[in-house]
Amino acid sequence: MSETAVLCQNITKIFGSGENEVHALRGVNLEVRKGELLMLMGPSGSGKTTLVSIIAAVITQTEGKCQVAGLDLNHLSDKDKTRYRGKHIGFVFQAFNLIPMLTCTENVAIPLILNGVDKKSAEAKARQILSDVGIGDKADTSPSNLSGGQQQRVAIARAIIHDPDLIVCDEPTSFLDLETGLKTMELLRSSIAERNKTLIVVSHDPRITKFADRIAKLEDGKIVL
Ligand SMILES: Nc1ncnc2c1ncn2[C@@H]1O[C@H](COP(=O)(O)OP(=O)(O)OP(=O)(O)O)[C@@H](O)[C@H]1O
Ligand SMILES: [Mg+2]
Repeated sequence: MSETAVLCQNITKIFGSGENEVHALRGVNLEVRKGELLMLMGPSGSGKTTLVSIIAAVITQTEGKCQVAGLDLNHLSDKDKTRYRGKHIGFVFQAFNLIPMLTCTENVAIPLILNGVDKKSAEAKARQILSDVGIGDKADTSPSNLSGGQQQRVAIARAIIHDPDLIVCDEPTSFLDLETGLKTMELLRSSIAERNKTLIVVSHDPRITKFADRIAKLEDGKIVL
């Protein structure tokens, strides 16, 4: 029996207050095993981004417990959360969150530099990964000059460069054509399979369900599958 990588117990998330309250998650229970590729599906507004943001310690749940690699995220100080994210999590945000003032190489190198790797080695590795994801020729340009699909690949490169235990990808293939989308999934899959890492992929994309070990479906803030 493999180990538990992520354990969510009765997670609720309420945004806003009073008349503006939004119940984004309404008691989510979810377990993801080490080495597993879980795909999280569900309609727009069902709470997918909210859930993965809680798992990656980007936001905090209103109630419930979230444990990642045996660590209760509620018990971490802000400083420890930052350290936890930097060391253990690779996050491909739905909106990419790339820094336009930096080149693609510099963007991808950030997680390594935050973990104390020297700039030269970090950037050499970043160039390698950019070429692995098929955009080596864009290494020295700003992500703002790239297409949506190219930016998506820079974001994926940045999420895997520091070899995190858990990679969370929010719609990683939405901007990609079929061939690039499949290649990207293969790259993500091989980056976890070799080292028994865990991958959670949020997606609407039926073309990539075949990569999943398991599919969970959110509807109106609850897991229904
Ligand atoms: N920061 C926020 N403040 C207020 N409401 C929010 C916030 N973030 C999300 N919500 C609300 O929470 C609900 C779930 O949003 P979420 O972004 O998790 O959905 P999603 O499943 O990722 O949708 P999509 O497929 O469109 O990306 C929605 O009703 C949304 O409007
Ligand atoms: Mg979303």
